[in-house]
Amino acid sequence: MKAVADTFGTPAYCYDENTIEQKCQNLNQLFPELPVKWLYAIKANDNPFILEIIHAQDFGFDTVSFEEVVLSQYFHEDPHNIFYTENNMTDHEMEQAIDAGVILNIGSYSRLESYCKHPDTHRCSIRINPDIGDGHHERVVTGNKDSKFGIRFDLVGDCLELAKKYDVKITGIHIHIGSGIKKPRNFTAAMKKLLNISYRFPDLEMVNFGGGFPIPYKESEKEFSLEDFKEQVTDLLAKDIENRQKTITYYFEPGRYIVGQSGVLLTRVNTVKNQGRKVFLGTDTGFNHLIRPLLYNAYHNVINIDRMDEPATEIYTVSGNICESGDVLADNRILPKTIEGDILALTEAGAYGMTMASEYNRRAYPAEVLIRKNGELKLIRPRVSAEETVKQFFIDTGYKP
Ligand code: LLP
Repeated sequence: MKAVADTFGTPAYCYDENTIEQKCQNLNQLFPELPVKWLYAIKANDNPFILEIIHAQDFGFDTVSFEEVVLSQYFHEDPHNIFYTENNMTDHEMEQAIDAGVILNIGSYSRLESYCKHPDTHRCSIRINPDIGDGHHERVVTGNKDSKFGIRFDLVGDCLELAKKYDVKITGIHIHIGSGIKKPRNFTAAMKKLLNISYRFPDLEMVNFGGGFPIPYKESEKEFSLEDFKEQVTDLLAKDIENRQKTITYYFEPGRYIVGQSGVLLTRVNTVKNQGRKVFLGTDTGFNHLIRPLLYNAYHNVINIDRMDEPATEIYTVSGNICESGDVLADNRILPKTIEGDILALTEAGAYGMTMASEYNRRAYPAEVLIRKNGELKLIRPRVSAEETVKQFFIDTGYKP
């Protein structure tokens, strides 16, 4: 990691190819006997070099915007490997999805209606709200009743009638209960609920249980037990296969699990400042690059990579360089004595780091670097200069300062 900071500077996201590949393999090995297909939720990290690694492990892609569909098309020629969960989509986006031939997963009754009325539509999936939610923070719980997501459970009958009337086949049903699931039994309870209702769908080919597999961020947090998950899910699906006349495919669509632990955000301490009650390590990044601490009170561990062998004796607050007092990346952390110029790594930042970054304060995005399996350091997104960041304002607008 030190070499990455030395070679490419900071701030930089740095990812490890081995970890990503290993995570994909962990999942691919889970249900060898069952008709399970894995999708990767590309919103977690959509750098094309990362997508390439995951694509090579036979993952389809889960997308939530037409832009993500377009990106996925670079990897998947077969549109059936692209699952598109719409969210308040426009008619134009629906047309685009139909033309692209991807699996469209519809999340509202009114959109299903416009889809069914469209002359070129024959099949789709629907997202159902199971009224079971979970997640690491209330902002990422999606399966509960008050969430905006999915079609109400009691409207399933109406959806089936509507589809029948317009001769559209509902070939897929989907749930996603939330992200960073805290109680795995909520996941399996929602799975059961979806499987129970699945028998009402005469044209069913796929059931998608969503993503949400958690990763540990703190040392005190345990790894998500794939063993337990395997056991429970195998049991559930084996029973379902037994009860069903025809074979269907079961989908999962994790994002965080695959990339979260593969990445760190490297940042340089530019200012050490004692404010009396707190000592701030002022860095060259901020919530414009990693918004999770501010948005979800999320915890990312901090490592001073220049002082790995030194004892942790000091209490620091790691702040960013954004002009807002909420720009704190890590509060009250015990670290070795740190000086200006030291490089810190914010760990577990491979998921929802770069994809949620912005150019707030007109600052450039961080660079992204991939540590290849052979140790090679590959720059997968260069940092742009201040001039280039500003120049984009003047492209194609005709504005002349
Ligand atoms: N499928 C759907 C329909 C989703 O909305 C999501 C995530 C996933 C799959 C993947 O979930 P995962 O396996 O990564 O938990 N920005 C937040 C997470 C928001 C997740 C949104 N949807 C964070 O940084 O924690």
